Amino acid sequence: FFIQGSGISGYPINESDNGNSFNKTDIAGNSSLPIPPLLEDKNPDPDKAEFHITAQNATKEFISGVETETMGYNGNYLGPVIRVRNGEDVSVQVENNLEDEITTIHWHGLEVDGDADGGPHSGIQPGESWTPEFTIDQPAATLWYHPHPEKNTGRQVYKGLAGLFFIEDEVSDSLDIPKDYGVNDVPLIIQDKQFNENGSFQYELGMHDVMNGLQGGTMLVNGAVDPYLEVPKGMMRLRLLNGSNASVYELHFSNNQTFYQIASDGGFLENPVEMDELILGPAERAEILVDFSNFKDGDTIQLSNKGSEFMKFVVNGESESNYAIPEQLTTIEKIDPDEAVRTREFVFQGMGPMVNINGKQMDMNRIDEFVDVHETEIWEVSNESGMGMMGGTVHPFHAHGVQFQIIDRDGNPPPLNETGWKDTFIVYPGEKVRAIATFNHSGVFMYHCHILEHEDAGMMGQFKVE
Ligand code: C2O
Ligand code: CU
Ligand code: CU
Repeated sequence: FFIQGSGISGYPINESDNGNSFNKTDIAGNSSLPIPPLLEDKNPDPDKAEFHITAQNATKEFISGVETETMGYNGNYLGPVIRVRNGEDVSVQVENNLEDEITTIHWHGLEVDGDADGGPHSGIQPGESWTPEFTIDQPAATLWYHPHPEKNTGRQVYKGLAGLFFIEDEVSDSLDIPKDYGVNDVPLIIQDKQFNENGSFQYELGMHDVMNGLQGGTMLVNGAVDPYLEVPKGMMRLRLLNGSNASVYELHFSNNQTFYQIASDGGFLENPVEMDELILGPAERAEILVDFSNFKDGDTIQLSNKGSEFMKFVVNGESESNYAIPEQLTTIEKIDPDEAVRTREFVFQGMGPMVNINGKQMDMNRIDEFVDVHETEIWEVSNESGMGMMGGTVHPFHAHGVQFQIIDRDGNPPPLNETGWKDTFIVYPGEKVRAIATFNHSGVFMYHCHILEHEDAGMMGQFKVE
């Protein structure tokens, strides 16, 4: 099942050397799209939420008749959706039931203090638990959570540890858009995997993986291969997460139909952005509205990555409600670059095992940057890694505990779908991206490349806000 043409980042993927030797018919594909359950809030107080999450080893049948060893939260692969409201006081009891390995749980995109952030300093020993508490203080958004243990993030995420984290607020309540979870508001966690011949996940890093991060030729959506989703003749809201370790996706519908992006990483855009292709780097999210009302029952629309189809929408039945694309979604106060007290530079450098930021690899005992709490800064991120050789490597930049606004890319305004809140942004080879943020939470946080094999190799640093 080589779902590929040219491969990701210009590299051919799934050539015979990576053990990916199944035929498409071996795969337990063509199932209906699994919908991750909403996690039960155990606290009856409407202003408080309490969740229980357990990281565990498991198995799952991706290939007919073969059990693949996986990890999951409260299940055998991926995790439930945590849904909270802005202003809510949240506590999450996280239990590590993994055999013999430390894990952490990090709330990617959540603006909380360092002690609740779940980075590599918050290791949970096997058999133990960790219960961070925080108050939600940011607009409606589709965030996510995943482990972040030192040098072992890539493997644990690859095995299946990841889940979505929704924030709702007055704006998301009042917008006339689909919001019936699992019905017309559907998450798509998109990943790509390599399988060994015995059906296990291939996570031995070969040369290509060390250079580019682990990319696979089998796409999964919510943990299923080649799934279908029945959709009514009407508007669907899809919440997309690029949950891959290392792949940049170029998403497109087979009939070339346009769709509207309504939210980026940190929440709604001011206005919907019409597009026919969406580029999503590792860890980035996008909410889109897709109108299926002009189809007939039985019509099938494929979703593809770089021209390779990996899931389909099968039109069936009438929609219960009618939606129009809203003109305006929210207002976002632009952070004025004149408010920035400084510009801080981050340079991605090196290749393979040498990847680094500003010439340094991650050291848990070293704080690289000190930021004054409540101050606004411009972060200028350049990609000088691998320049001149092999065309360079894309690196998605991510920082914890904060949401940015992108000022410019190489001096040009960002594309419209990047004019909202961003916690992760792609930096192409040779490019320089300037982003601005106000650092309102104190503690120790990570910034890193979100190609997880680069992060684990040391393409990460620490900043302390105080
Ligand atoms: Cu998705 Cu350091 O995180
Ligand atoms: Cu993060
Ligand atoms: Cu990288």
